[in-house]
Parts: sequence; C-alpha cells; structure tokens
Amino acid sequence: MAKLYINPHNRKGHINPELQGHFSEHLGRCIYEGIYVGENSPIPNVNGMRRDVVEALREIRIPVLRWPGGCFADEYHWKDGIGPKESRKKMINTHWGGVVEDNSFGTHEYMELCRQLGCKTYVNGNVGSGTVQEMSEWVEYMTFEGVSPMADLRAKNGHPESWKVDYFGVGNENWGCGGNMTPQYYGNLYRRYQTYVRDYRSDRRIYKICCGPNVDDYHWTEGVLETTHDHAEGSHGFMNGLSLHYYTHPGGWDNKGYALDFDRDVWYETLDRTLYMEQLIRGHGAILDRYDPEKKIGLIVDEWGTWYQVEPGTNPGFLYQQNTMRDALVAGINLNIFNKHCDRVKMANIAQMVNVLQAVILTEGEKMIKTPTYHVFHMYKDHQDGELLESFLETEAIGTKEHQVPNLQESVSQGADGRIHVTLNNLSADRDYEVEAVLAECSVKAVAGEILTGAMDAHNTFEKPDAVHPQAFQGVQVSGGALKFTIPACSVLHLALEV
Ligand code: AHR
Repeated sequence: MAKLYINPHNRKGHINPELQGHFSEHLGRCIYEGIYVGENSPIPNVNGMRRDVVEALREIRIPVLRWPGGCFADEYHWKDGIGPKESRKKMINTHWGGVVEDNSFGTHEYMELCRQLGCKTYVNGNVGSGTVQEMSEWVEYMTFEGVSPMADLRAKNGHPESWKVDYFGVGNENWGCGGNMTPQYYGNLYRRYQTYVRDYRSDRRIYKICCGPNVDDYHWTEGVLETTHDHAEGSHGFMNGLSLHYYTHPGGWDNKGYALDFDRDVWYETLDRTLYMEQLIRGHGAILDRYDPEKKIGLIVDEWGTWYQVEPGTNPGFLYQQNTMRDALVAGINLNIFNKHCDRVKMANIAQMVNVLQAVILTEGEKMIKTPTYHVFHMYKDHQDGELLESFLETEAIGTKEHQVPNLQESVSQGADGRIHVTLNNLSADRDYEVEAVLAECSVKAVAGEILTGAMDAHNTFEKPDAVHPQAFQGVQVSGGALKFTIPACSVLHLALEV
C-alpha cells in the first residue's frame, strides 16, 4: 500500500494563483478564431471575444494571461495594433505559418479580453527588433494617466482610462528567436530597456520579467545575473522575475511524435521528461540563490507544456495538436511541481491557451471542446492562493528501462476556504494503487473527490466532446486522520478534505 503523509501544521509557502497562468500568442488559431472572432462574426461574441471560450476560461479562474508572444513578441510593433481597424497595418506573420496578420487584435482588444476573463495582464515587450523608445511608449500608452502624448493617443482611440499592467516581459527568448544574443549582451540591454518600463503609479507597480534560460542553459542564467546583479540585488523594481522555458518533447526536438499515436514506452518517456522540470527549477534556483538568497526574484516558467508534431493535414506553422490523458498527466505533474516550489516559482504559463500546443480549449468553427488538460486546471484551481503543506509520498519506480518514474506524485495545500486540497497523479499506464493518506494530528470530517481517468490516449473530439471529463470519486474510507482509497491507473485525482 502506498503511503502519503501530510502535515497540516507545517505550511511551506504561499501558492500564487499565477502558477496556473496561461499564454496566448499571435500563432496559428490561438488568438484569431480561437479567442477573437470580431464583432461581426456569426459566432456569439462580446466585443469580438468568443462567448463560449471566455465562459469556459472563467470557470477555471484564469489568473493571468501572457501576450502577444512568444517569438511574435520580438517582431511585434504595438502601434500597428491600435486605432481604427480598417487602417491597421497588414503584415505577414513570418514566424508562424506565413499568414496575414491584420492587427485587428491589439492592445485594446487584449485588455478587453483580460477584463472579460477577470485576470491579470502580462504584456511581453519587444527587445529583439524594437527600440527602447517603442517599449517605453507602450508602457506610457497603457498605464499613464495624466497629460502625455501616449495617454492622449489612448484617449483618442477610445480609452481615456489607463490600464493596469501587472507583469511586463523585457523580451522573449533573446538567446534565440528574440535576437540570438549572448547573456552578457542581453543582460546589458535588460538594464537599459527596463529603465524605461516606468511605474507611473506607486500603487500599481509593474513586475518586470527578465528573459531567462531555455531548459538547462545554466550558462545563460549565470551570465544574465552576473551582468545585472549589482542592480538585481535589492534595487526595487529592477528585476522582479526571471523566466524559464521548458517544453516536453517526448522523443526530443527531432522526434516529437504525435499527440494521439504513441505507445506505453512513449508514455513513460513523456512523463519522465516532464518530471525533469523539477531538476530545472532546482538548478536555476540554485544559481538564483547565490545572487538573490532572499528569493525576491521569482522564477517565471512562462512557457511549458507538450509539443508534438502537428495534427496531420494542418499548417506546420500553426502548432495545432490534440490532447489526451497523457497531457492531463503532464499538466498535473507540472502543476504539482510548481506548487512544491512556490518559494521560488511565482508564475507559470501553459503554452498555449487555445488551439496551440497543449491547449486547454480546441475550436472548430463555432464548436468548442475542453481538453483533458482543461479539466486538470479545473481540478487544481482550489490550490490558487492556498498555503502549501508539507507532504511526503512513499513511491515505487515504474516505467521502462530507460524511463523510470515514480508511480505516484502529489502536492497538498490548505485553501483559502480552509479545506485541505490533495492533488495526486497515478503515472502508471495500467496499475491501480491502494493509498493510505495520514494527516498528522488532524481529523478529517468529510471528503469530496473528483477524478479524471481513462486510457492513455483517451481524448475529446468535436463529435464526442465529453469522452474525458472529471467524475465524482467515491470510495474514500475515513478514520480520524487517515484515509484509504484506490487510485486507478492513468489518473489525476483531487480530494478536498474538511478538517
Ligand atoms: O510557444 C511557441 C513558441 O515556443 C514561442 O513563440 C517561443 O517563445 C517558444 O520557442
């Protein structure tokens, strides 16, 4: 019998709601079609935003949305996306599929989307091909309230009130698509560009995010921090966060495989590669600890998720892929890891929200489906703003010779509602496990459970939109502070305990 120990009396840190953040780029059918259809579309919309999609996203309490990229961010010139739509510049989205970008979704539309979602804003600026002036004016346009050229322009475009920019990214992947820079070169640019990302209101400070590493590029982390640390340490608002990007490519970048076509070996390889996230957080966290022992700088995992070959017959530049129980496990594992490292990880954004990579929602014309990954976010939402509790799981190694993973993986928090939330994943493709959970010096009054389970490749389609959906989980035996239950193979479980 597997044992899970929970100590409700040892709180390990606060779980920022932003650990369940999202990312939407001008890429494929994420923004256009997936979210924004325009005011004149026959698809029901509010100010151009799909009603069905916004409603579904509100249900998972999206805390924050990153925009406009991604690689697109370092090619984006924000002034192309303001003013009357008919006169907005049309251009080719060279990075993603070579399609026409008509700029009909710009700053005003993004802010309107976040208003409808009720989420925080995370705008990613352009360092790769943009100027300091351009970035500075964008911040002025969005946040300045008095008389100024940019505030006047915003008012002229129909929005006299300023917006709140909660997070601002100073460039994206500047080691690659964002300019192919060295860490020292970028570090110096960061120093310069961030200077002009001004806080125009003392009660609305912008959280500035410096471009961090790709995967295990510790050299980048070291180089950027080395170049900036005389400021990074202590100087308010110079650097609040450092990003990290890590995608799960089942067979590596050159052999990603397909979302729906995989076997048991690839299942374990995918989960093993996902668990690597923890090592990356520890590795980059250790470097950060040297420069920032007080953990003032957040690690911002602003791109994570599975990345497969695109669905056959779709535009390779659109990164459209299906989503199965394998993705549900990838989401559950990552979200548990972020919770467990909430002392350093302050935000994480799955890539991407709709129709791209590990999407929570897929659309086809007026139809919309929720993916298994969506349901995992729904099941984890009670961790938002919770306090991480100490927990320990006795596990056994399972999988293949090359890819061994623990059979179970968990995180536990005490929610704002006072309940204890346990999210437990069974990584086995075919074995159920009996679990005994013991809570130290605490007795459980009631348990509510929900589970997402199915075959490894179970997924939802436009014909069968509810093939995979959470179900009530019964069969938990409670005795004082101990619980006994059986978790089925290939599943994500959420237990809410009243104590
Ligand atoms: O999410 C797709 C792309 O992956 C982003 O544009 C880029 O930042 C990353 O390489």
